[in-house]
Parts: sequence; C-alpha cells; structure tokens
Amino acid sequence: MIALHVNVDHIATVRQARRASEPDPVTAAALAEVAGANGITVHLREDRRHIQDRDVRVLRETVQTVLNLEMATTAEMLKFAIEIQPDVVTIVPEKREEVTTEGGLDVVCGGDDLKKAIGELRDNGMRVSLFIDPDMEQIQSSAKLGATDIELHTGPYAHAKESNKILSQAFQKLEGAALEAHRLGMQVNAGHGLTYQNTQQICHLSHLSELNIGHSIVSRAVVVGFGLAVREMRELINHQELNLGCGDSGTS
Ligand code: PXP
Repeated sequence: MIALHVNVDHIATVRQARRASEPDPVTAAALAEVAGANGITVHLREDRRHIQDRDVRVLRETVQTVLNLEMATTAEMLKFAIEIQPDVVTIVPEKREEVTTEGGLDVVCGGDDLKKAIGELRDNGMRVSLFIDPDMEQIQSSAKLGATDIELHTGPYAHAKESNKILSQAFQKLEGAALEAHRLGMQVNAGHGLTYQNTQQICHLSHLSELNIGHSIVSRAVVVGFGLAVREMRELINHQELNLGCGDSGTS
C-alpha cells in the first residue's frame, strides 16, 4: 500500500495570518488520521511562518501514525529534532525568501556536514529522508551519505502540462530515480505539487512507499467545507433571531 502522509503546514498558515489559536494543525492532524492518513508531515521553517515549535511538540504527543518533520540541517533544527524524536526527518533545502520549497537538496555538494547530520539523526533512532530531484547523481550520493529514504521532488512533473511530452519525460525521470533508489536499498517517497488531477499517475511509480501531500488537500478542504461552515453560522444567527422574536432580550 502507498502511504499517504498529509502535510498540515497550511492549516497553520491560516492560523498565523491572524496569530490566532484556530485553525489548529493538531486538530487537523487528528482528523487526517481518522480519515485514513498514514502519517503527518510538518515543516518547521527557520522563519516559523506556519508551523511553530509548540505544534511539533504537541503533535509528537498526539500523532498515532508517523510524524515526519521536514527541516533544514541547521544546528538549531538538529538539536530540536533530537529532542522531539519524530519518526522521520526529511531534510529539505530552505531559502527565507521562497514561497515554498523550490527544488531538491543538493546532496552531491552537501558533503560532510550532511553526512554528519544524517548520522546523528539515525544514531538517535530516526529515519532520514532526503528531498531530492530525480537525478541519478543525487540518488547515488544520498545512498553514500547514509539516507534511509529519499523523497523525490514531483514539482517539475506536477507543473508540466498534461498531454505534453514534458509530462511523460518528467514521469520517466521519476521512474528511473525510483528504480535506482530502490536498487540502492533506500525507501522511495515522493511529493510536492501533487493534486487530485496528477496523483493518479504518480501512484504507478515503481517501489513507491509514501506520498507527501499538503496544499491540494488543504485547498480542497476549504472549498468542500465552506458551504457547511456558512450554513452553521447562518443557523446560529437564525436561532438567536428566533429567541429575540420570543421576547428574549438577545443579551444572553
Ligand atoms: N514534500 C516536501 C519536501 C515539501 O517541502 C512539501 C511542501 O511543504 C511537500 C512535500 C508537500 O507539497 P504540497 O504542499 O505541494 O503538497
């Protein structure tokens, strides 16, 4: 079975827009698990634009499936991961000015620091996944550095237009990368930019173990839940108006 790991970062994005307490990514994670998610993914960014340290701490207590922490390999993040002990750490490149993770990690040039970080995380009992482009050199370097998993960056596939030659080339690149990663003994995961339109084909990648999907699920949740949310508020107001009509002062 291909595991679905749901990324709840954008629940926190909405909360942080108001610096409020809702919507809560911890509640969303629990609902995702009840709905069949096999894991919960969060990215604790250096600028803390969505997920906060406390979210990860609480998720560590509440997640019943698998907690996957995406992070850059700064000293601060390594210390945090070792303290929190997520089940998996996915190492991602991070640029402060980017809207979302823009490309895979450069594992070939990453060298000794990355190897040391992977070793430290693995020694502390975590699986370590590297988010990389579907490139043979990146796959081979990931294995040499000791990664247990790779997460193939599906962005270029996701952004290629359907029925376009580029789409089939992007898929073939992912397929080649998946075969090589499996041959080298690493677990094959994939994610980024996956939607209700383009996930079907990705499920046909060889040796695929996990998909990480966030934005599209959160977007759909907002749309399919919007009518219900408005109806509930309308009913609440209707109820109060009814009470007023019955002689209620409306101050209760
Ligand atoms: N995988 C990684 C490494 C990511 O950084 C992200 C985005 O946070 C995702 C998967 C999920 O991407 P999306 O939100 O486009 O589904």
